[in-house]
This record gives sequence, structure tokens and C-alpha cells, in this order.
Amino acid sequence: MVKILKLDMISAAKNSDSLVKLLQDSVKNGASVSFLNPLSDSAAESYWREVFAEINSAQIIVWAAFDDDDNLVGSVQLAPAKMQNAKHRAMVQKLMVISNHRREGIGSALMDTLELEAKKLGKKLLILDTRLGDPSETLYEQKDYIKFGIVPGYALNSSNDLDDMAFYFKII
Ligand SMILES: CC(C)(COP(=O)(O)OP(=O)(O)OC[C@H]1O[C@@H](n2cnc3c(N)ncnc32)[C@H](O)[C@@H]1OP(=O)(O)O)[C@@H](O)C(=O)NCCC(=O)NCCS
Repeated sequence: MVKILKLDMISAAKNSDSLVKLLQDSVKNGASVSFLNPLSDSAAESYWREVFAEINSAQIIVWAAFDDDDNLVGSVQLAPAKMQNAKHRAMVQKLMVISNHRREGIGSALMDTLELEAKKLGKKLLILDTRLGDPSETLYEQKDYIKFGIVPGYALNSSNDLDDMAFYFKII
């Protein structure tokens, strides 16, 4: 049974190695999550250090999923918009599940947890993007996210080609 916990600075730092591995695993397996393969330890560590600082300054909320042996097997982030006219809005970012635990409902459970908390925080609108044609599109569409556009050539991939990106929203 997967357990989902919100990470604070201390628990995030404690799980730093696992978060680095999760990101590297996703990138290695072709995910479009801001980084290119091969992702070095130092680049992944530096990314997570920035995220930990954002957790500390309440700019971002990060959840991690743990298996029965307390191994970190997934993660997702909610980034509330900062501007005065955007307090009702937040971005969903970096939904990742370790490759040997996919299709077990972990990604779905992470999204459900994130949405519940977003509602409690008074958020009304969630925005996310993912590579056009990615399996995650099925997950998001099952959860009633609405595709509102496609931007061609939005992100570079590890083969040095440009991927189109699909943008979604959900009113919660
Ligand atoms: C996208 C991702 C998070 C899905 O996590 P997951 O734990 O495997 O997803 P779930 O098991 O909760 O899947 C829920 C539903 O989504 C759909 N889905 C998920 N992965 C799928 C795949 N590879 N192919 C087709 N449908 C898929 C299915 O409908 C699935 O339900 P089912 O298994 O009962 O058929 C995971 O594949 C991943 O980490 N990918 C790399 C990172 C990434 O690309 N993230 C998204 C972009 S930011």
C-alpha cells in the first residue's frame, strides 16, 4: 500500500538521494521533465536543493510516495502562483513515479492528494503541461484535465529534437 507524505525541509533533505535517483530514472527513461539524459548527480542534486529552498519559503509543496519498505517511489509538486491576481491558481509539476513501480496507481494517488490539498488551500484552477503523446496525457485526461493547447517545439529532448507540449487545465 503506497503512503503519500508532504515533505518539509527536513524530510525532503533526508530523502534527497532518493529524489535525485527518481529524477535521474525519469530522465533516463525519456521523460520530458526539464532535464536531458544523462543527468549528472551534481545537476540533479542542485535542482533538488533549489526545490528544498522553495519548500522552506512556502513557494512550493512537494509530496512523495513511499512503498511498504519506506522506499521513495514517486513525487509531485504544486507551485501556487505568486501574483496578487493569481492567488486561486497553481501549477502542477514534476509528477514522477520510479520506473519499476509504474502502473500501480501511484501517479494517480499523488495527483489525488495534490488536488485535495489544493482545494483546501482555496485553489480553483490547476495548470500543467506534458509532452504531446506522453502516457501521462491519459492519466491527466482520466482526471478530467482539459487540453487547451499545443505548443510546437516547446522542449528539447535527449535526442536533440524538439518536442511539442500539451497544456492542460482543471477547475477544481
Ligand atoms: C506519468 C507517470 C507519472 C504515471 O505514473 P503511474 O504511477 O505509472 O500512473 P498510474 O499507475 O497511477 O496510472 C493511472 C492511469 O494513467 C494511465 N497511464 C499511466 N501510465 C500509462 C502508460 N504508460 N500508458 C498508458 N496509460 C497510462 C492509465 O490509464 C492508468 O490507469 P491503469 O493503469 O488502470 O490503466 C509515470 O509514467 C512517470 O513517472 N513518467 C515519467 C515522468 C513523466 O513523464 N511525468 C509526466 C510529465 S510531467
